[in-house]
Amino acid sequence: MEKLKIAGGYSLKGTVRVSGAKNSAVALIPATILAESPVTIEGLPHISDVEILKDLLEEIGGRVNINSEEMTVDPSTMISMPLPNGKVKKLRASYYLMGAMLGRFKKAVIGLPGGCHLGPRPIDQHIKGFEALGAQVTNEQGAIYLRADELHGARIYLDVVSVGATINIMLAAVRAKGRTVIENAAKEPEIIDVATLLTNMGAKIKGAGTDVIRIEGVETLNGCRHTIIPDRIEAGTYMILAAAMGEGVIIDNVIPLHLESVIAKLREMGVFVESGDDQIFVKTVPNLKAVDIKTLVYPGFPTDLQQPFTTLLTRAAGSSVVTDTIYGARFKHIDELRRMNANIKVEGRSAIINGPIQLQGAKVKASDLRAGASLFIAGLMAEGITEVTGLEHIDRGYSDLVEKLNGLGATVWREALTKDELEHMKNI
Ligand code: EPU
Repeated sequence: MEKLKIAGGYSLKGTVRVSGAKNSAVALIPATILAESPVTIEGLPHISDVEILKDLLEEIGGRVNINSEEMTVDPSTMISMPLPNGKVKKLRASYYLMGAMLGRFKKAVIGLPGGCHLGPRPIDQHIKGFEALGAQVTNEQGAIYLRADELHGARIYLDVVSVGATINIMLAAVRAKGRTVIENAAKEPEIIDVATLLTNMGAKIKGAGTDVIRIEGVETLNGCRHTIIPDRIEAGTYMILAAAMGEGVIIDNVIPLHLESVIAKLREMGVFVESGDDQIFVKTVPNLKAVDIKTLVYPGFPTDLQQPFTTLLTRAAGSSVVTDTIYGARFKHIDELRRMNANIKVEGRSAIINGPIQLQGAKVKASDLRAGASLFIAGLMAEGITEVTGLEHIDRGYSDLVEKLNGLGATVWREALTKDELEHMKNI
C-alpha cells in the first residue's frame, strides 16, 4: 500500500488533460452486458473502479480487453452468475449490474454495494423501479435477489432525484416489453452519456437530460463504439486547484456547460476564469473572497466538488458556508483539514470556514474519494510536506494523478507505507 507525499507551496502552470468521466464509466461498463455483440468504450480513465468492473464482467463470463483508455467487451458468452460477495462490494456502482443483468437475463444476485461512506445511501428508488418493471426483489443476507418472468414497461415516479436509480431503471427498461416513463429523473450529463451508448446499441430512449425519460423497450441490443464524456468532477478539481495555486492553468478536454455552477462560484470569489470550446483557463488572484455554497442536483453545484472547494475557501477572506443538501454527513475531511491549520466548524449539514489561513503540511487520511481530493489540494496549498494515506480512495477516481500534478509544476510522489503505518491501518 502507498501514500501520497506532497511538497506544498509551488505555483502551478501549464495544461492538464481531463480523463473520461468516472461516474459515466461505472455505468457504461455494466451497460455492455445488455448487448449481444462486442461493445467498445473509448476514453476510459485509469482508475481502480474500471479495473474492478472489468474483473466483475469477466466473472460472469464476459471477454474483456483493455488497451490503455479503450475497453472492448464481448458480452455474448456472459451468464447470469450470482455475485453476492467479493469485488462487487468494493464499489457503489456495482448496483448497475442489477439493472443490466435484470435487463439481459431477467434475474440477478448482487451483493449490496460498497463505495464512499457519505452517510446513509439507500437504494430504495432503484428497487421501486425494478419492482414496477415486474421484478421480484428480495434482500437475502446482504445480497439483492432480482427475478422476473418478464419485464414490462411502467410509469415510475422517483420520490428522490437519484442519478443511480435513473440509470439503473433505464438499464432494465431498455429490454422490457413496452413503454417505460421515468418521472422526476435526474438530469446529470452522465445520464445522457449512458442513454447515448444505449441508443447506439439500438435502444429507444427520449428525454435523457430532462426530468422525464421515455423508453420504448426492444428485444435485442447490439455492439457499437462509444466515446465517454470528460469527467466534470476531475475538471472541477483541477479548476479549484488552479484557483488556489494557478499562475495560469488550462484545463483541457472539458465541456464548459457541465461546469457552469463551478465557474460562477470561482468568479464570485474573484478568480479569473475564461472558457473556450473544450478548455477552461483559470488563474488565481491575490485576494480571494469568501462565498457560500449549497450543493444541489445538476445543474446546481455538485456535491462531489463540495469537499475540494472547502479547501480553497480556507484561503478566502471572511466567512464561507458550505451546505450539502445531498449528503448531510459528507464532512469527514474537515477534521483532517483542521490538522493542517484550517479554521472550520461543522454545524448540521454545513461547514463554516473562516479565512484566510495559511495551511500547514501534516499527516492526514482520506476517508473517501473527494475527501482525498480536498486533502491533496490542501497539501499543494500548504507550507511544508503533507502525507495523505487512504490513497486507495483517491485511486478510485483520479486518473494518472501524480503525473498530471507534476506536469503542472507540483512536487508530488507516491511512497510505500512504512511497517508502522501498515500496522496502524490494521488496527483501525
Ligand atoms: N437516495 C435515496 N434513495 C435511493 C437513491 C438515492 O434516498 O434509492 C438519496 C441518496 O441517499 C442521496 C440522494 O438520493 O441523498 C442522491 O443520491 P444519488 O442516487 O443521486 O447518488 P448515487 O447515484 O448513489 C452518484 C455518484 C456520486 C454523487 C451522487 C450525487 C456514481 C457512481 N456516484 O451517486 O458520486 O455524489 O450521484 O451526484 O455515479 C463521487 O463521485 O465521489 C460520488 C460519490
